[in-house]
Amino acid sequence: MDTVVSGIRSTGNLHLGNYFGAIKNFLKMQRENNCFFFIADYHALTTHPKPDDLHGNIKQVLAEYLACGIDPEIATVFIQSDVPEVAELYLLLNMNAYVGELERTTSFKEKIRKQPDNINAGLLTYPVLMAADIIIHKANKVPVGKDQEQHLEMTRKFARRFNMMYEVNYFPEPDAYNFGKELVKIPGLDGTGKMGKSEGNGIFLADSPAEIRKKVMRAVTDSGPTSPNQELSEPLKNLFTIMSVVSEQSTIKFFKEKHASCEIRYGDLKKQLAEDIVKFSDPIRVRITEILADNKYLSKVVAEGAEKARESASKTIKEVREIIGYKKFN
Ligand code: TRP
Repeated sequence: MDTVVSGIRSTGNLHLGNYFGAIKNFLKMQRENNCFFFIADYHALTTHPKPDDLHGNIKQVLAEYLACGIDPEIATVFIQSDVPEVAELYLLLNMNAYVGELERTTSFKEKIRKQPDNINAGLLTYPVLMAADIIIHKANKVPVGKDQEQHLEMTRKFARRFNMMYEVNYFPEPDAYNFGKELVKIPGLDGTGKMGKSEGNGIFLADSPAEIRKKVMRAVTDSGPTSPNQELSEPLKNLFTIMSVVSEQSTIKFFKEKHASCEIRYGDLKKQLAEDIVKFSDPIRVRITEILADNKYLSKVVAEGAEKARESASKTIKEVREIIGYKKFN
């Protein structure tokens, strides 16, 4: 059985893109692998959240994970900062990570551009912490999006370097696992590009039906087809892509035919789409609310997850310390 590790930073609510682009496959993977799914709340500190917000952000993402069906009875679900062993491995790996290679990382260069006032060392060593997250459980597979592939390559490099340096075959080199074609990249409602947490173009799993209807009714379309069988414009294609994951085949067919015959009414299409999104996401929203209200359940999940994650992590740390040459005085 393969070991799978994946994390998500606690910096914003989950949206439909997260669900159909990743979580749906976590649900499938959790049955077939030894999975560790965690909330990356050390990583979240790179953007300096306020102490008053930090806990709530973590709790929200955790509740959303669980509401989607990630099952803590099957997978190990935990909070990164509950496993201080990760911080120790991060420290140890930092000794063999070179400033030059870290500075060349695309995500770091992007941060320099986007937040020139806060280029902290945590951002520079972000890939080292991520590597520690992964190899501390000796993962083989890491389900991540395309934007994380370079970080995964660095993880493999740090694992390989450790093995070479100490002449051991200790850490496996994990592969990025991006699900093949099964997952759909969900576009935003603004006509172009993908759904994001901060782009203002997303539908969140925690959105109320009223919010969803309002957002969908405001989605960008075009001025309507002018000749039969005209190609779909990008904004229209995007709405049909969202339909493809929430609506019945017959609904999609109906509106495609209406478009082809120039009889389509975008208002009707949007109304239907909004209802189908609500039908999919409302049970999740209700569960999010229930789970958020159940502190006893959440604290049990977190405590059990931390215990399982620490068991695996402390075994690795103990062995790593031995490999590096730390010995007991006796
Ligand atoms: N860097 C990832 C992201 O921003 C989150 C993350 C942190 C992660 N540690 C990880 C993902 C380990 C997979 C494995 O999406």
